Amino acid sequence: MENIAIAIDGPAASGKSTVAKTLAKRLGLIMVNTGAMYRAVAWATIQKGVDPADSEAVIKMLGEVEFSCGVSDNLSTILVDGVDPGDALRQDAVNQRVSKVAAIPEVRELLVQRQRDYLELGSVVMEGRDIGSVVFPDTPFKIYIDASEEVRRQRRAAEGIVDELGKRDEEDSKRKTAPLVVAEGAVKIDSSELSIEQVIERVLEILKERGAPVELLGN
Ligand code: DC
Repeated sequence: MENIAIAIDGPAASGKSTVAKTLAKRLGLIMVNTGAMYRAVAWATIQKGVDPADSEAVIKMLGEVEFSCGVSDNLSTILVDGVDPGDALRQDAVNQRVSKVAAIPEVRELLVQRQRDYLELGSVVMEGRDIGSVVFPDTPFKIYIDASEEVRRQRRAAEGIVDELGKRDEEDSKRKTAPLVVAEGAVKIDSSELSIEQVIERVLEILKERGAPVELLGN
C-alpha cells in the first residue's frame, strides 16, 4: 500500500488535534501536529531573545537553531537544539507569538518540507491550517473541522489555557502565505454539537467514500 496523507485543517480549538490523534491511533498511522512545529519556532524566539515581528531576525535564527522532527509512539516530535520544549509550547507567550512567525514565508517553507518528509516514514494523519491546501494539495482525504467561536472558547477555558482565539484565527486567516482556508475538495465538519466519536465516524465515512485502502480501514 502506498503511503497516504489524511489532511485535517481548522481553526484553534476546533477539536482537530483530538480527532487527528484518535483517528491515527485507531488506524495505526503517524499523527503529525504541525501547530507544534510553528510553536517550536515561536518558543525558540523566546529562548534566543528574537522579536517575532522582525522577520529578518527570525530567518537568521532559522539558520542557527536546529529543529529536529521525529516520531515517538506514532506521534510527531520536535526538538529545538536537542531540547524538547514539552508543555512550554502551549504557554501564553507562545500563543501570542506563533501567528507572527507562522506568517513568515521562510518559516513555512522550512516546516512544510519537514511535514512532507513525514510521508516517507509511513501514512500520516496531519493536522494544521494549510495541510489540504499547501502541504498535500493532491490528497483526496481532506477534512476541515470547524466549531463556533463560543464552543471553541469554552473548550480552551476547560483546558485552563489562556488563548486569544479570535485574534489568532484572524491573523492566521488574513496572512498572505498559506492562510487558513477550506481547501479545495475538503469536506467541512462542524463539531460544535458533535462528540469526538461522532466526528471520527463521519471522518471514517468520508475516507471510505473517497476510496481509502481497505488495508487501512480494516473492512
Ligand atoms: O494548531 P495550533 O493552535 O497549535 O497552531 C498554532 C499556530 O500555528 C496557529 O495559530 C497558526 C500556526 N499554524 C500554521 O500557520 N499552519 C499550520 N499548518 C499549523 C499551525
